[in-house]
Amino acid sequence: MKRLLVAAALVALPLPALAQTSLQMIENGRALFNDKSLSASGRVSCATCHPMNGHTDNKTYVGLDVVPDGDPKGRSTPTMWGAGIRQAEWSWAGNIPSIETNIRGIIVNRMKGSEPTKETLDALAAYVRSLPNGPAPFLDADGMPRDTAPADVRRGYALFSGKAGCMTCHSPASYDKKGPEDVGSGGPFKVPSLRNVSKTGPYFHDGRFKSLDEAVTFMWDFYRKKNDSKDTLSDAEKRDLVAFLRAL
Ligand code: HEC
Ligand code: HEC
Repeated sequence: MKRLLVAAALVALPLPALAQTSLQMIENGRALFNDKSLSASGRVSCATCHPMNGHTDNKTYVGLDVVPDGDPKGRSTPTMWGAGIRQAEWSWAGNIPSIETNIRGIIVNRMKGSEPTKETLDALAAYVRSLPNGPAPFLDADGMPRDTAPADVRRGYALFSGKAGCMTCHSPASYDKKGPEDVGSGGPFKVPSLRNVSKTGPYFHDGRFKSLDEAVTFMWDFYRKKNDSKDTLSDAEKRDLVAFLRAL
């Protein structure tokens, strides 16, 4: 009943007031994101692992414990940058349809905090969805390289969208995809967004790869085998693919 009244009140507000309401919600979300009292110990906030406005601390965790990169139980911290335009579902398992449900799980299971209210979840979700991607001066609004992008970036894009087959899963502008895929990395996992990817290592759900070169080689080997492709990628072509990824 209370929610209905709030909804009715929102509908009656003039537009600028509505925009102000959502700005206020994002601001509340930002404060909660930095609020350590969401965790049972009172020592950990969302920003502890997602510093720099929701980015990643580049570590691999089981619960609140840092574990060696590549530990099969470990999960590497994803960035929240660009979360608002993603196509994939949430978590590395890639099977949680709503970001609010995912955040609730993190508070209750990972941070062992008390059950959050709907208002808390809505504000945190609004903040996370509001976070822009990092600067990508060589991309246009659709995520394609501009004519002004360096030649290796443009060659890399041609490979990515052509014979390397990457775009069958990583599709622009977010360079991810709805629905998990099994690429032989230990089960089905989310097809992660490749935006900002030069700053999100270590790579894969368990943080097994330090460098983009390793991740690209793994992905290409998988794609080539799966499709019985007779194509090859030279070292120079792999370098072009990495140059393209770095422009995302
Ligand atoms: C101890 C470090 C840590 C803390 C604290 C933490 N996170 Fe995360 N976050 C992670 C890790 C690791 C994952 C990946 C877990 C998985 O998918 O299995 C993750 C995943 C996420 C995802 C899913 C992203 C995606 O692309 O699927 C969201 C959203 C998120 N965190 C938001 C938050 C919010 C909001 C908070 C605070 C309530 C928070 N996180 C606190 C480490 C942390
Ligand atoms: C069949 C779908 C599929 C294809 C094709 C594919 N990928 Fe992926 N990609 C995935 C999945 C799933 C993961 C996550 C695997 C994991 O975490 O274990 C991933 C992870 C990655 C990562 C690591 C990102 C991160 O944040 O950890 C990079 C980089 C990447 N892919 C690049 C490529 C490139 C380059 C190609 C083409 C050579 C490609 N992918 C082809 C599904 C695909």
